[in-house]
Amino acid sequence: MEHVILDVDTGIDDALAIAYAFRSSELNVLGITTGFGNVSEKEATRNTLQVLDVLGLEHEIPVIAGADKPLSGVHIKGKSTHIHGEDGLGNCGLPLSKRRPLSTEAANFIISKVKELPHQVTLIAVGPQTNLATAIKKDPEIVNLVKRVVVMGGAVTVPGNVTPNAEANIYADPEAASVVFESGIPVTLVGLDVTMQTLLRNEVVNEWSSVKSAYSDFLQTICNSYIGAYHQFDSSLGGCALHDPLAVGVVIDPSFVKTVPMCVGVDLGKGDTFGKTYEVQQGKANIEVCLDIDVDRFVSHFLQRVI
Ligand code: RIB
Ligand code: CA
Repeated sequence: MEHVILDVDTGIDDALAIAYAFRSSELNVLGITTGFGNVSEKEATRNTLQVLDVLGLEHEIPVIAGADKPLSGVHIKGKSTHIHGEDGLGNCGLPLSKRRPLSTEAANFIISKVKELPHQVTLIAVGPQTNLATAIKKDPEIVNLVKRVVVMGGAVTVPGNVTPNAEANIYADPEAASVVFESGIPVTLVGLDVTMQTLLRNEVVNEWSSVKSAYSDFLQTICNSYIGAYHQFDSSLGGCALHDPLAVGVVIDPSFVKTVPMCVGVDLGKGDTFGKTYEVQQGKANIEVCLDIDVDRFVSHFLQRVI
Protein backbone atom coordinates (compact mmCIF):
# COMPACT_ATOMS: atom_id res chain seq x y z
CA MET A 1 0.00 0.00 0.00
CA GLU A 2 1.18 3.45 -0.91
CA HIS A 3 1.12 6.01 1.93
CA VAL A 4 -0.26 9.27 0.57
CA ILE A 5 -1.17 12.75 1.78
CA LEU A 6 -3.78 14.56 -0.30
CA ASP A 7 -3.28 18.31 -0.52
CA VAL A 8 -6.51 19.86 -1.78
CA ASP A 9 -8.47 23.09 -2.40
CA THR A 10 -11.74 21.22 -2.31
CA GLY A 11 -13.83 22.09 -5.26
CA ILE A 12 -15.62 19.49 -7.36
CA ASP A 13 -12.73 17.61 -8.98
CA ASP A 14 -10.89 17.59 -5.64
CA ALA A 15 -13.96 15.90 -4.13
CA LEU A 16 -13.86 13.30 -6.92
CA ALA A 17 -10.14 12.78 -6.26
CA ILE A 18 -10.80 12.26 -2.54
CA ALA A 19 -13.53 9.72 -3.35
CA TYR A 20 -11.24 7.90 -5.81
CA ALA A 21 -8.40 7.75 -3.25
CA PHE A 22 -10.55 6.37 -0.43
CA ARG A 23 -12.16 3.82 -2.71
CA SER A 24 -8.77 2.50 -3.86
CA SER A 25 -7.23 -0.12 -1.59
CA GLU A 26 -3.79 0.52 -3.11
CA LEU A 27 -3.65 3.80 -1.18
CA ASN A 28 -3.35 4.50 2.53
CA VAL A 29 -4.47 8.10 3.00
CA LEU A 30 -2.49 9.44 5.99
CA GLY A 31 -4.37 12.73 6.00
CA ILE A 32 -5.75 15.55 3.91
CA THR A 33 -4.23 19.02 4.01
CA THR A 34 -6.31 21.92 2.71
CA GLY A 35 -5.65 25.35 1.30
CA PHE A 36 -7.07 28.24 -0.70
CA GLY A 37 -7.63 27.91 -4.45
CA ASN A 38 -11.03 27.00 -5.88
CA VAL A 39 -12.45 28.41 -2.64
CA SER A 40 -11.03 29.95 0.53
CA GLU A 41 -8.99 27.75 2.85
CA LYS A 42 -11.87 27.71 5.40
CA GLU A 43 -14.33 26.61 2.71
CA ALA A 44 -11.90 23.98 1.40
CA THR A 45 -11.63 22.54 4.92
CA ARG A 46 -15.41 22.60 5.41
CA ASN A 47 -15.95 20.95 2.02
CA THR A 48 -13.34 18.27 2.69
CA LEU A 49 -15.00 17.31 5.98
CA GLN A 50 -18.39 17.14 4.23
CA VAL A 51 -16.98 14.95 1.47
CA LEU A 52 -15.63 12.50 4.07
CA ASP A 53 -19.14 12.33 5.60
CA VAL A 54 -20.88 11.69 2.30
CA LEU A 55 -18.34 8.99 1.51
CA GLY A 56 -19.61 7.26 4.66
CA LEU A 57 -16.13 6.92 6.15
CA GLU A 58 -16.58 6.05 9.77
CA HIS A 59 -12.97 6.09 10.97
CA GLU A 60 -11.21 9.30 11.86
CA ILE A 61 -9.26 10.85 9.02
CA PRO A 62 -6.86 13.68 9.82
CA VAL A 63 -7.86 16.88 7.98
CA ILE A 64 -5.47 19.75 8.51
CA ALA A 65 -6.07 23.35 7.47
CA GLY A 66 -3.26 25.10 5.64
CA ALA A 67 -2.50 28.17 3.58
CA ASP A 68 -5.11 30.89 3.22
CA LYS A 69 -2.95 32.93 0.86
CA PRO A 70 -0.01 32.47 -1.52
CA LEU A 71 3.63 32.77 -0.40
CA SER A 72 3.71 36.36 -1.67
CA GLY A 73 0.86 37.19 0.74
CA VAL A 74 -1.22 38.69 -2.07
CA HIS A 75 -4.00 36.86 -3.91
CA ILE A 76 -3.61 37.10 -7.68
CA LYS A 77 -6.36 34.68 -8.57
CA GLY A 78 -9.87 34.84 -7.11
CA LYS A 79 -12.03 31.86 -6.17
CA SER A 80 -13.39 29.63 -8.95
CA THR A 81 -17.08 29.82 -8.03
CA HIS A 82 -17.98 30.12 -11.74
CA ILE A 83 -16.73 26.52 -12.14
CA HIS A 84 -17.27 24.94 -8.73
CA GLY A 85 -20.35 26.84 -7.48
CA GLU A 86 -20.69 29.35 -4.63
CA ASP A 87 -19.87 26.68 -2.04
CA GLY A 88 -17.19 25.02 -4.18
CA LEU A 89 -19.26 21.83 -4.40
CA GLY A 90 -21.84 22.70 -7.05
CA ASN A 91 -24.18 24.21 -4.40
CA CYS A 92 -24.92 20.66 -3.28
CA GLY A 93 -26.37 21.63 0.10
CA LEU A 94 -24.54 19.01 2.18
CA PRO A 95 -25.03 19.47 5.94
CA LEU A 96 -22.11 20.80 7.96
CA SER A 97 -19.89 18.02 9.28
CA LYS A 98 -19.39 17.24 12.93
CA ARG A 99 -15.81 16.23 12.12
CA ARG A 100 -13.15 18.74 13.14
CA PRO A 101 -9.78 19.55 11.56
CA LEU A 102 -6.67 18.80 13.64
CA SER A 103 -5.28 21.78 15.52
CA THR A 104 -1.85 21.58 13.85
CA GLU A 105 -0.91 23.31 10.58
CA ALA A 106 -0.77 21.61 7.18
CA ALA A 107 2.99 22.18 6.72
CA ASN A 108 3.72 20.71 10.17
CA PHE A 109 1.58 17.67 9.41
CA ILE A 110 3.43 17.09 6.13
CA ILE A 111 6.82 17.39 7.87
CA SER A 112 5.87 15.04 10.69
CA LYS A 113 4.41 12.32 8.45
CA VAL A 114 7.36 12.46 6.04
CA LYS A 115 9.78 12.07 8.98
CA GLU A 116 7.73 9.30 10.57
CA LEU A 117 7.73 7.33 7.27
CA PRO A 118 10.95 8.32 5.49
CA HIS A 119 11.01 7.63 1.70
CA GLN A 120 7.50 6.19 1.91
CA VAL A 121 5.16 9.17 1.63
CA THR A 122 3.79 10.34 -1.71
CA LEU A 123 2.17 13.76 -1.73
CA ILE A 124 -0.68 14.24 -4.14
CA ALA A 125 -1.01 18.01 -4.50
CA VAL A 126 -4.13 19.06 -6.40
CA GLY A 127 -4.35 22.71 -5.38
CA PRO A 128 -1.78 25.50 -5.24
CA GLN A 129 1.49 24.14 -3.79
CA THR A 130 1.67 26.60 -0.90
CA ASN A 131 1.47 24.02 1.90
CA LEU A 132 4.23 21.90 0.45
CA ALA A 133 6.47 24.89 -0.30
CA THR A 134 5.93 26.11 3.28
CA ALA A 135 6.90 22.67 4.60
CA ILE A 136 10.07 22.67 2.45
CA LYS A 137 11.01 26.15 3.65
CA LYS A 138 10.37 25.24 7.30
CA ASP A 139 12.28 21.97 7.17
CA PRO A 140 14.41 21.51 4.03
CA GLU A 141 15.46 18.04 5.28
CA ILE A 142 12.15 16.65 4.04
CA VAL A 143 13.32 17.13 0.45
CA ASN A 144 15.40 13.95 0.79
CA LEU A 145 12.72 12.06 2.70
CA VAL A 146 9.60 12.53 0.54
CA LYS A 147 9.10 9.62 -1.84
CA ARG A 148 7.49 11.66 -4.59
CA VAL A 149 5.16 14.57 -5.23
CA VAL A 150 2.47 14.21 -7.86
CA VAL A 151 1.25 17.68 -8.74
CA MET A 152 -1.94 18.41 -10.66
CA GLY A 153 -0.88 21.65 -12.23
CA GLY A 154 0.73 23.37 -15.15
CA ALA A 155 0.39 23.29 -18.90
CA VAL A 156 3.77 22.68 -20.47
CA THR A 157 2.77 21.96 -24.08
CA VAL A 158 -0.80 23.29 -24.18
CA PRO A 159 -2.50 26.62 -23.34
CA GLY A 160 -3.51 27.54 -19.80
CA ASN A 161 -7.01 27.63 -18.32
CA VAL A 162 -6.99 30.81 -16.23
CA THR A 163 -4.91 32.86 -18.66
CA PRO A 164 -3.85 31.86 -22.17
CA ASN A 165 -0.57 30.78 -20.58
CA ALA A 166 -1.21 29.63 -17.04
CA GLU A 167 -3.03 26.80 -15.30
CA ALA A 168 -5.08 27.60 -12.16
CA ASN A 169 -3.08 25.80 -9.45
CA ILE A 170 0.25 27.24 -10.60
CA TYR A 171 -1.16 30.72 -11.30
CA ALA A 172 -2.60 30.89 -7.77
CA ASP A 173 0.90 30.60 -6.27
CA PRO A 174 3.71 30.42 -8.83
CA GLU A 175 6.38 31.09 -6.20
CA ALA A 176 5.26 27.99 -4.29
CA ALA A 177 5.34 25.88 -7.46
CA SER A 178 8.83 27.17 -8.18
CA VAL A 179 10.03 26.23 -4.66
CA VAL A 180 8.66 22.70 -5.13
CA PHE A 181 10.03 22.25 -8.67
CA GLU A 182 13.50 23.44 -7.69
CA SER A 183 13.65 21.59 -4.38
CA GLY A 184 15.06 18.34 -5.74
CA ILE A 185 12.02 16.30 -4.62
CA PRO A 186 11.00 13.89 -7.40
CA VAL A 187 8.00 15.59 -9.00
CA THR A 188 5.53 14.16 -11.50
CA LEU A 189 3.54 16.89 -13.22
CA VAL A 190 -0.01 15.97 -14.19
CA GLY A 191 -0.94 19.07 -16.13
CA LEU A 192 -3.56 20.20 -18.63
CA ASP A 193 -1.37 18.45 -21.23
CA VAL A 194 -3.11 15.26 -20.15
CA THR A 195 -6.01 16.20 -17.86
CA MET A 196 -7.95 18.05 -20.56
CA GLN A 197 -8.25 14.72 -22.37
CA THR A 198 -9.88 12.96 -19.40
CA LEU A 199 -13.50 13.85 -19.99
CA LEU A 200 -16.30 12.66 -17.78
CA ARG A 201 -19.18 12.69 -20.23
CA ASN A 202 -22.70 13.93 -19.71
CA GLU A 203 -24.25 10.61 -20.84
CA VAL A 204 -22.26 8.69 -18.23
CA VAL A 205 -23.48 10.91 -15.39
CA ASN A 206 -27.08 10.66 -16.61
CA GLU A 207 -26.89 6.85 -16.33
CA TRP A 208 -26.25 7.16 -12.60
CA SER A 209 -29.82 8.31 -11.93
CA SER A 210 -30.97 4.71 -11.49
CA VAL A 211 -28.79 4.42 -8.37
CA LYS A 212 -30.29 6.11 -5.28
CA SER A 213 -28.20 7.00 -2.27
CA ALA A 214 -26.95 10.19 -0.62
CA TYR A 215 -23.54 9.49 -2.12
CA SER A 216 -24.89 8.93 -5.61
CA ASP A 217 -27.07 12.08 -5.37
CA PHE A 218 -24.00 14.02 -4.34
CA LEU A 219 -21.95 12.68 -7.25
CA GLN A 220 -24.69 13.53 -9.72
CA THR A 221 -25.19 17.04 -8.34
CA ILE A 222 -21.52 17.97 -8.38
CA CYS A 223 -20.80 16.37 -11.76
CA ASN A 224 -23.84 17.93 -13.45
CA SER A 225 -22.87 21.31 -12.06
CA TYR A 226 -19.24 20.86 -13.20
CA ILE A 227 -20.27 19.66 -16.68
CA GLY A 228 -22.64 22.65 -16.93
CA ALA A 229 -19.79 25.04 -16.09
CA TYR A 230 -17.53 23.44 -18.70
CA HIS A 231 -20.34 23.64 -21.25
CA GLN A 232 -20.52 27.41 -20.79
CA PHE A 233 -16.89 27.75 -21.81
CA ASP A 234 -16.85 25.18 -24.57
CA SER A 235 -20.13 23.61 -25.64
CA SER A 236 -18.30 21.18 -27.94
CA LEU A 237 -16.60 19.36 -25.02
CA GLY A 238 -19.64 17.35 -23.82
CA GLY A 239 -18.13 16.72 -20.41
CA CYS A 240 -15.79 17.94 -17.69
CA ALA A 241 -12.11 17.25 -17.13
CA LEU A 242 -11.02 14.88 -14.37
CA HIS A 243 -7.98 16.98 -13.43
CA ASP A 244 -7.48 16.03 -9.79
CA PRO A 245 -8.62 12.40 -10.07
CA LEU A 246 -5.90 11.82 -12.67
CA ALA A 247 -3.21 12.79 -10.13
CA VAL A 248 -4.61 10.07 -7.84
CA GLY A 249 -4.84 7.66 -10.78
CA VAL A 250 -1.18 8.14 -11.64
CA VAL A 251 -0.24 7.02 -8.11
CA ILE A 252 -2.53 3.98 -8.26
CA ASP A 253 -1.34 2.95 -11.72
CA PRO A 254 1.55 4.90 -13.25
CA SER A 255 0.97 3.14 -16.58
CA PHE A 256 -2.09 5.35 -17.22
CA VAL A 257 0.38 7.97 -18.46
CA LYS A 258 3.70 8.32 -20.23
CA THR A 259 6.10 10.85 -18.79
CA VAL A 260 9.08 12.72 -20.21
CA PRO A 261 11.85 14.07 -17.96
CA MET A 262 12.19 17.82 -18.45
CA CYS A 263 13.58 20.90 -16.83
CA VAL A 264 10.43 22.88 -16.07
CA GLY A 265 10.46 26.51 -15.00
CA VAL A 266 7.67 28.73 -13.71
CA ASP A 267 7.34 32.27 -15.04
CA LEU A 268 7.41 34.63 -12.06
CA GLY A 269 7.61 37.85 -14.08
CA LYS A 270 4.64 40.20 -13.98
CA GLY A 271 3.85 40.01 -17.72
CA ASP A 272 1.31 38.04 -19.76
CA THR A 273 3.12 34.77 -19.17
CA PHE A 274 2.99 35.03 -15.36
CA GLY A 275 2.43 31.55 -13.92
CA LYS A 276 3.32 29.74 -17.14
CA THR A 277 5.11 26.38 -16.82
CA TYR A 278 7.65 25.99 -19.61
CA GLU A 279 10.48 23.72 -20.65
CA VAL A 280 13.90 25.22 -19.97
CA GLN A 281 16.01 24.15 -22.94
CA GLN A 282 19.30 22.55 -21.91
CA GLY A 283 18.39 22.71 -18.21
CA LYS A 284 18.81 19.69 -15.92
CA ALA A 285 15.61 17.65 -15.89
CA ASN A 286 13.79 18.22 -12.59
CA ILE A 287 10.28 16.99 -13.40
CA GLU A 288 8.58 13.99 -14.98
CA VAL A 289 5.98 15.65 -17.18
CA CYS A 290 2.93 13.60 -18.22
CA LEU A 291 2.51 14.06 -21.96
CA ASP A 292 0.50 11.05 -23.01
CA ILE A 293 -2.43 9.23 -21.45
CA ASP A 294 -4.49 6.10 -21.96
CA VAL A 295 -7.73 8.02 -21.56
CA ASP A 296 -10.21 5.16 -21.83
CA ARG A 297 -8.40 2.91 -19.38
CA PHE A 298 -8.07 5.70 -16.81
CA VAL A 299 -11.66 6.97 -17.09
CA SER A 300 -13.06 3.40 -16.83
CA HIS A 301 -10.89 2.71 -13.80
CA PHE A 302 -12.00 5.95 -12.13
CA LEU A 303 -15.66 5.20 -12.80
CA GLN A 304 -15.44 1.61 -11.52
CA ARG A 305 -13.92 2.82 -8.28
CA VAL A 306 -15.96 5.93 -7.64
CA ILE A 307 -19.51 4.97 -8.55
O1 RIB B 1 -6.63 23.63 -13.35
C1 RIB B 1 -7.36 22.63 -12.70
C2 RIB B 1 -7.08 22.64 -11.22
O2 RIB B 1 -7.48 23.88 -10.64
C3 RIB B 1 -7.80 21.58 -10.43
O3 RIB B 1 -6.99 21.20 -9.35
C4 RIB B 1 -9.01 22.31 -9.93
O4 RIB B 1 -9.56 21.70 -8.78
C5 RIB B 1 -8.44 23.67 -9.62
O5 RIB B 1 -7.81 23.64 -8.37
CA1 CA C 1 -7.98 21.23 -7.08
